[in-house]
Amino acid sequence: MVLSPSTPALWQRWPLPAVAAWALAWALFTVLRGTAGPVSAALLASLLGTVLALRQGGLWRRAWVAGGFPLSLLASGAGGHLPAWAWLLPLALLLAVYPLRAWRDAPLFPTPPQALDALAAQLTLPPGARVLDAGCGLGDGLQALRSAWPAAHIEGLEWSAPLALLTRWRCPWAQVRRGDMWADGAWRGLALVYLFQRPESMARAWAKACDELPGGWLVSLEFSVPGRAPDLRAELPGGRPVLAWRIPAQPVGCHADIPGE
Ligand SMILES: C[S@@+](CC[C@H](N)C(=O)[O-])C[C@H]1O[C@@H](n2cnc3c(N)ncnc32)[C@H](O)[C@@H]1O
Repeated sequence: MVLSPSTPALWQRWPLPAVAAWALAWALFTVLRGTAGPVSAALLASLLGTVLALRQGGLWRRAWVAGGFPLSLLASGAGGHLPAWAWLLPLALLLAVYPLRAWRDAPLFPTPPQALDALAAQLTLPPGARVLDAGCGLGDGLQALRSAWPAAHIEGLEWSAPLALLTRWRCPWAQVRRGDMWADGAWRGLALVYLFQRPESMARAWAKACDELPGGWLVSLEFSVPGRAPDLRAELPGGRPVLAWRIPAQPVGCHADIPGE
């Protein structure tokens, strides 16, 4: 059986709660602007956005929900100089850089520099071994991989086309492709797959590693595979863990290690 992350109801899926909160804040601002004046209306609408943000889990999502209205108001010329639809521009820009599909797997947080060096002291790879940052964002994970295993062949896979483009420019020594890290076969032939995603992604990553990475390494910054102790562990200066699992050579026994699978 193949594991998949728990799927929230359609209306709870990102970024729908954020879009709904921004739309409500704008509706309130539009209704109040004539009677209460633009400043009071903006303050009350921002307050509504902040209250709705508190219903969201995680700092990142709260920041998006709370910040969406004031930012879009700012971008629209404080409601005075630009047409009302101008608030859609930042959203359109955001969606272009960071498409919906990527939001479900992870927010855009970078790997700190040298984050993998301590792990590399315990995990040796042969020269030319292929290592992949699955969801490579702006390339910080690729740089950490290069620092840790300088003789490896560094590859990156990123869903967002603009981010993949920027990363190719930032990391010309890496092979960066735009694509879905969950695509069938995307991890075959690799020695190591590095992930900095979400806790919910880890069971799915394990199942994929069992199928496509036998004998290789799955490395995760911060997030653990449920029910599976890591084979190696290192720590960042702030205490955040870097965890590594050696994938069993046999897919059948490998899948059986995950509870509920
Ligand atoms: C937390 S960031 C990590 C970036 C990079 N790995 C690092 O550590 O610096 C997660 C990245 O994964 C990307 N991503 C999310 N889902 C993806 C998918 N299904 N396929 C490819 N990339 C994905 C996002 O666009 C985002 O850039």
